[in-house]
Amino acid sequence: MNDNAQFVPTTEGNEIPSFQTTWSAPSNIALVKYWGKKELQIPCNPSVSFTLDQCRTTTSVRFERLKDNLDHLSLALQYDGKPVPSFEPKVKTFIDRILPYAPYLKEYHLLIDTINSFPHSSGIASSASAMSALAAAIMDLEKQIYPSLTAEDQIKKCSFLARLGSGSSARSVEGPLVLWGEHTATPDSSDLFGVRLTKAADVFKTYHDTILLVDKGQKEVSSTIGHNLMHNHPFAENRFTQAKAHYQALLTILEMGDMDGFNDLVEREALSLHAMMLTSSPSYILMHPNTIQIIQEVRRYRKTTGLNLTFTLDAGANVHLLYPAHEAEKIDQFIASDMRKYCQDNELIYDRVGTGLKKV
Ligand code: DP6
Repeated sequence: MNDNAQFVPTTEGNEIPSFQTTWSAPSNIALVKYWGKKELQIPCNPSVSFTLDQCRTTTSVRFERLKDNLDHLSLALQYDGKPVPSFEPKVKTFIDRILPYAPYLKEYHLLIDTINSFPHSSGIASSASAMSALAAAIMDLEKQIYPSLTAEDQIKKCSFLARLGSGSSARSVEGPLVLWGEHTATPDSSDLFGVRLTKAADVFKTYHDTILLVDKGQKEVSSTIGHNLMHNHPFAENRFTQAKAHYQALLTILEMGDMDGFNDLVEREALSLHAMMLTSSPSYILMHPNTIQIIQEVRRYRKTTGLNLTFTLDAGANVHLLYPAHEAEKIDQFIASDMRKYCQDNELIYDRVGTGLKKV
């Protein structure tokens, strides 16, 4: 049995005429980055992330059983109650991809209504939280059809389905720290779904992440294009080797509660991700002048105060400021007085590490 086959239902299930369910899923921020993928969302290197708490997508799905099986998908999409046909191609591609693993979806009309807790244009990618919230709703229907499905298998398959929508989404199902991608140091980890990292010092389970919204607009180059530019990238193989080494080193850092090691490694990962963009063909720069200003100030602040403020970046200009809860009072004051000025419209989002999916 190949690994994917474990996710294909093999028996006839219950007939459920209609079902409505609502799930909320968080975004996540990678500490070791996923950048470069193979066919069907298989990552070129393993990654580790903090699951967030406040940045979330809430998705309600009403499943209505059709009289006849259709040969095409039947769905309608809304954002906060208003139709959004522009979201349809992405969701259709996602559902087409997961149909072999959720064939019962062909028997239903899906009315999907979704809303994000963070501003629509904040430059924050919503695909991780959006795909995992939708996958969670679909897995809830699967649980009605197959009541013997265990909670553990439901979570695992939810991450598996979410990954097929957006790779990083595989890491938005559980928390506070998630691994995705195979590595010999973590025999439980998989390219197909995320798993919780259990061996982390307590200090990392309550970490703060304040997101400085340097640029709230659409990114100039999407992650999908960025991943593609890793094919034929002159440094790709070295980057994957580096990421695998960083992954293993970070596991030790997290387990030991090594704050200096954490600050050093997380910052180098963020800059290595952007170095791939700077050196791809065509090359591109997603950091803004304010991104660099913030990086310099964070390093200066850490040096002069000894407090554990560090930064990471995703594929954009915004900066995630990471720091431990026991230092948050002082660091929050610094952010309010010295960092807001670098944000578009002075906007930032105070978030922290969270636990993953919630049924609403
Ligand atoms: C830089 O998961 O958005 O945030 O699989 O094409 O949807 P797709 O890409 P996506 O890439 C995330 C890239 C990243 C790093 C990370 O989250 O690990």
